[in-house]
Amino acid sequence: MAETAGSSLISSWPASEAAWERTKASLPGGVSTGLRAAMPPHPLFFEGGQGSRLTDLDGNSYLDYVLGWGPVILGHGHPGLTEAVAAQLPHGATYGAGHLLEAEAAEMIIDRVPGAERVLWSNTGSEAAQIALRLARGTTGRHRFVKFGGHYHGWTDAMLIGYRTGPDADLGRGSLGQPVQALDDVAVSPWGDLGAVAELLRSRDYAAVFCEPVLCNSGVLAPPEGFLAELRRLCDETGTVLVFDEVITGFRMGRGGAAERYGVQPDLVTLAKAVAGGFPLAAIAGKADILERTTSGIVHAGTYNGNPVVLAAAKATLQALNEPGVYETFERHGLALGEGLGASLAAHGVVGTVHQVGPVAQCIIGVEQSATFEDFLGADQEFYNRLLVQMLRRGVFALPGGRWYISTAHTDDDIAQTVTVFDESLAATLAEGPPPVIQR
Ligand SMILES: Cc1ncc(COP(=O)(O)O)c(C=O)c1O
Repeated sequence: MAETAGSSLISSWPASEAAWERTKASLPGGVSTGLRAAMPPHPLFFEGGQGSRLTDLDGNSYLDYVLGWGPVILGHGHPGLTEAVAAQLPHGATYGAGHLLEAEAAEMIIDRVPGAERVLWSNTGSEAAQIALRLARGTTGRHRFVKFGGHYHGWTDAMLIGYRTGPDADLGRGSLGQPVQALDDVAVSPWGDLGAVAELLRSRDYAAVFCEPVLCNSGVLAPPEGFLAELRRLCDETGTVLVFDEVITGFRMGRGGAAERYGVQPDLVTLAKAVAGGFPLAAIAGKADILERTTSGIVHAGTYNGNPVVLAAAKATLQALNEPGVYETFERHGLALGEGLGASLAAHGVVGTVHQVGPVAQCIIGVEQSATFEDFLGADQEFYNRLLVQMLRRGVFALPGGRWYISTAHTDDDIAQTVTVFDESLAATLAEGPPPVIQR
């Protein structure tokens, strides 16, 4: 069990509460994103992390499955990563000019990611999706693009469509302030429905089709058998650029990401999160003839692009992920966690499912079968939020919404302890209040 579990359940977080009172006066919501502000029971504040654990301002230690919402794939304070960044810092933060780390890290991506012939460096997954869209438009001369319902490609105006129910749910807009015209540019297709996407693409009206090759943001839904290969074929047939958004799956679901795992080569792939172990870095990799267009008319800019600090981090991270056994261990730990959570739901008679692909798992409560984005939207998030608080009290920190990330720092013991904590927390959640609402 986590260090804070057992006899010493955490009952409150006075130091975090005090910190939140203070930070709300200077930051909207008191933290740096709306999602973090909404974490139950209130945002927690941390003083540091080591390996698979985080320590909060109250001195509580947690097994961490949030991992910075994904990037911290080596765990906190990984020695190789820390040393690489520390070694670069005395030599400056950014040059605004060429340096060899740019190419050294790019070569590592080209070595790993299927179809990567060139790499563009950027800073975030949202930016990477934006430039991928621009490249696809500039290459095909077409304007509109296809995405799938529930897939997330960042928060930009173009992309935040057909994701969660937003303020204009009927319209599919994700945010107030987003231009309604953005909706004209995109067709949202149901994930896994080949007929629907084939009909769209055969109009030859679309520059690109974007997907998360495993739909991690809405249920960790693996692609139906053969779906990605057929998407590839349809894109070839219709001259559409196939973009895999591997911001989550990249370097996590295999050394070469989901493209390698499923044996399908996209034209462009966007990468972020795991690529630099927690430092802000994104990459767009893929066909040379598309990416080389940034030298002849397609603008890709960014003051911080390819700065040496984050590239030192990327090199160290990719090197660490290349150690023997990393991906075998991810599979083993992912399976153990997924099976453990699923067995706990069944033992308590709680309706729900657990999906898992590699070191990413998704717990969905209140839905008997969750095969689609719409099924996933039926999950009882209120119940899950109460469960999250029970887990926090017992020293496990997991994401709202039900997704779990495992790092290389997690051990067999960590996973076993977590399954025990989940089980105890589920019992406590059922005992304290209403059972989950079931969608049928
Ligand atoms: C699949 C996917 N694409 C793109 C993004 C956006 O990345 P960023 O938050 O770095 O802008 C995310 C972020 O969670 C993501 O999960």
